[in-house]
Amino acid sequence: MAKPVGTYAALAVALVLFVFALPLRAQSPPAALVPAIISFGDSSTDVGNNNYIPAAAFKADFPPYGRNFTTHKPTGRFCDGKLVTDFTGECRISYQSFRPSLASEALGFASFPPAYLSPQASGKRLLQGASFASAGSGYYEGTAAIYHALSLAKQMEYYKEYRIELAKVTGKRKAAGILSGAVHLMSFGNGDFFQNYYINSSLRRLYTQDEFSQLLIRRFASFVKDLHGLGARRIGATSLPPVGCLPAPINLFGHGRCISRLNAEAQNFNRKLNATASQLSSKLPGLNLVVLDIFTPLMELITSPSEHGFAEVRKGCCGTGTSRTTVLCKPRREGVCANPEQYVFWDGVHPTQAANQYIAHSLIDQGIALIA
Ligand SMILES: *[C@@H]1O[C@H](CO)[C@@H](O)[C@H](O)[C@H]1NC(C)=O
Ligand SMILES: *[C@@H]1O[C@H](CO)[C@@H](O)[C@H](O)[C@H]1NC(C)=O
Ligand SMILES: *[C@@H]1O[C@H](CO)[C@@H](O)[C@H](O)[C@H]1NC(C)=O
Repeated sequence: MAKPVGTYAALAVALVLFVFALPLRAQSPPAALVPAIISFGDSSTDVGNNNYIPAAAFKADFPPYGRNFTTHKPTGRFCDGKLVTDFTGECRISYQSFRPSLASEALGFASFPPAYLSPQASGKRLLQGASFASAGSGYYEGTAAIYHALSLAKQMEYYKEYRIELAKVTGKRKAAGILSGAVHLMSFGNGDFFQNYYINSSLRRLYTQDEFSQLLIRRFASFVKDLHGLGARRIGATSLPPVGCLPAPINLFGHGRCISRLNAEAQNFNRKLNATASQLSSKLPGLNLVVLDIFTPLMELITSPSEHGFAEVRKGCCGTGTSRTTVLCKPRREGVCANPEQYVFWDGVHPTQAANQYIAHSLIDQGIALIA
């Protein structure tokens, strides 16, 4: 069968355009609104640092973690797929170009800022940021100590090291520009309560929930001041989730229902976070600090799941059949649900990729102030 010559000609032209478009893109990528994403935190933002900490208590380096990630392999993320911060990272890449996958490949970037302790965190890859987060960490130094995670202080120490390496890769002036333009995300607090305060009665005798919250908030404030002092200008800090509606606390203490006291206490913390964030914003020159409210969108999924395509909000997708007290998935595939896109939670405490995508959309709306 003869094909019209015109088809081949058009194809050839398209191919030539395609091939030449790549190096052109690489030389002059459209100006990015956000040059890099830097993240600090606990298991909600750990993208694999704990894999490189032999003693770390929490690791997600085995299946079924990561089974629906882009590589379909466990990476250290406590999720079946992408974290909220991965989605916000994609948002950054799609601001650069209307064809995100093409742009990131053509520029030779990994799709996501690497875990700082991983071998990938070197050379040009550092330009897009890094994650210093470590599962089991918290605002309270004692939380990280229990779980052999990178404490707040350690994450800051590595961040300072990162700044020096970035300056080596790109020069001091450019590195300073990247860091002042970068979005710095902080996501701590959940572990301080759920993996420490609520399970340690001597800690509870030492501080009321309100006092413990104040102590955490002071750590938050000093971390923000330190970041600001080092030149960071765009900082987003996540609120606590509805702690009383996570599957693990529900199974442990809730007899199948959300524990409203824990949710009220989470909101008490969140109000203090909001108040302190506005004080810091007005005090520190040039600082753009936004509290990213994850309580509201996660609660929305939990109270109206079917409106958003979800069916299960009480149980995690994995590990639910075996033990009622399961927090993390077990390193076996059995007991993993077949339809995680209908589950809000992947394991006993962490949302699924599907839920993270919904939360990320809400955060991107809230975080527009950071890049405006
Ligand atoms: C509980 O908290 C107290 C007070 O901070 C601390 O001394 C103790 O080591 C903690 N216990 C555990 C098991 O973490
Ligand atoms: C904190 O501030 C955010 C953004 O203004 C808001 O959505 C949220 O409801 C506030 N949280 C509390 C507990 O007041
Ligand atoms: C798995 O990932 C694909 C592509 O990213 C997505 O379309 C699908 O909904 C995901 N499945 C679940 C269960 O989240």
